[in-house]
Amino acid sequence: MNKVAIRIGDVAFANPIMVASGTFGYAQEFDGLLDFSQIGAIVTKTVTLEPRTGNPPPRIWETAAGMLNSIGLPNVGVEEFIAKKMPFLRNLATRIVVNVAGKTGDDYVRIVERLQQVDGIDAYELNFSCPNVKQGGMSFSADAQIAERVTADVRKKSQRPLIVKLTPNVTSIADIGKAVEQGGADAVSAINTLVGMAVDVKSRRPRLSTITGGLSGPAIKPIALAKVYELCRKLTIPVVAIGGIMNLQDALEFFVVGATAVQIGTANFINPACAAEIAQGLHGYCRAQNLNLQELIGSLRVEK
Ligand code: SIN
Repeated sequence: MNKVAIRIGDVAFANPIMVASGTFGYAQEFDGLLDFSQIGAIVTKTVTLEPRTGNPPPRIWETAAGMLNSIGLPNVGVEEFIAKKMPFLRNLATRIVVNVAGKTGDDYVRIVERLQQVDGIDAYELNFSCPNVKQGGMSFSADAQIAERVTADVRKKSQRPLIVKLTPNVTSIADIGKAVEQGGADAVSAINTLVGMAVDVKSRRPRLSTITGGLSGPAIKPIALAKVYELCRKLTIPVVAIGGIMNLQDALEFFVVGATAVQIGTANFINPACAAEIAQGLHGYCRAQNLNLQELIGSLRVEK
């Protein structure tokens, strides 16, 4: 019996370990580096209506305990994604979640409408949370009314599960989570990166071309845990946790606070097989403890 299977909407996932958007390309880049069938899902690099070149360099800076990025959603655009990336993705023995972003709410609707005609996609992740673009990006999950409306508009066009990716750069992530739940989301994923900055004192210049960027990696794990806990307490839909997960122990912490699934992001740059190793570790842990993942999810003990 599979002790670690999960569901989001009406889609079953063999295990709850996914790779995060923007850290795994369109999977072909990782061919031969891990067994794709061992991970629960691949979340693709963001796809937009038109191709984008992204922000000018420098757009990555390594920090003491993480990474700052300001990539700016470079991607091939939805038509080339369908023609050139989906043929590889749809043949993999894992779930495929396509991450979608737009400059306007209507962009999200149009991309999802187009992707609905394409085989081999299991779910969508709506990127409402990129901190590195001028139009759209984080603004979609900084306002509860906008977040709810765009989710509801996409919901009408999608027969597949919708996961809405939230930013932590707001006063109350749970209020935004509640709004997208009301809009018809099947799950939320959190957290996207925290706005951060690095400076070269010698040149007096910022390390990134856009001055600020998004911080990810181990530095943000305690913040991600707190935000995921907050979301799990307030929402009834599943929460997919993201934020500095480097190993099995980190993943287990997120399950204990209530996450249904986790995404591995920055760790993929250090060890491309990290997600597959965590998935194997989770199978072993559940076997050794003789428990189902569902018994672990939300098992945090808090003194009253
Ligand atoms: C980027 O491409 O700038 C990062 C993507 C994101 O933070 O959503």
